Amino acid sequence: MSRILVLHGPNLNLLGRREPGIYGIVTLEEIDHRLRKLAAEHHVELEILQSNHEGGLVEAIQGAMGRIDALIINAGAYTHTSVALRDAVAAVDIPTIEVHLSNLARRESYRQHSYLTEVAVGQIMGFGADSYVLGLQAAILHLSHHAS
Ligand code: DQA
Repeated sequence: MSRILVLHGPNLNLLGRREPGIYGIVTLEEIDHRLRKLAAEHHVELEILQSNHEGGLVEAIQGAMGRIDALIINAGAYTHTSVALRDAVAAVDIPTIEVHLSNLARRESYRQHSYLTEVAVGQIMGFGADSYVLGLQAAILHLSHHAS
């Protein structure tokens, strides 16, 4: 059974209340519920963690090494600042899907660069809560194409 880790970065615990015009009204609990349902349908084991701390996210990525088959990450604002997260993803060598609720290409200039994109298999953004669903589908498809 494949095991997939979903990581939510800073401020994503406030989804539903946080800038709903940009991020929507769906809560993180609801997103996690949808992901667990989809994972169960595909017989995939899911681990989910939210952290507001860069080090906590780094440790979660390191802890995935040798245990987790694919990683889905919305690093929030750390996307644009964290070489440490980028290095952690590169170090563990786990196929990683980067997701964002909003379409970063349509947002502020400081959100235009992601340190994660170059170490990710691909990026999904702009579909609100559905970005996560698409991210999980992408991870499952990727694993099915690269089954060992
Ligand atoms: C975000 C985009 C980031 O720029 C922002 O800091 C977030 C959320 C998104 O999902 O659209 O916290 O990653």
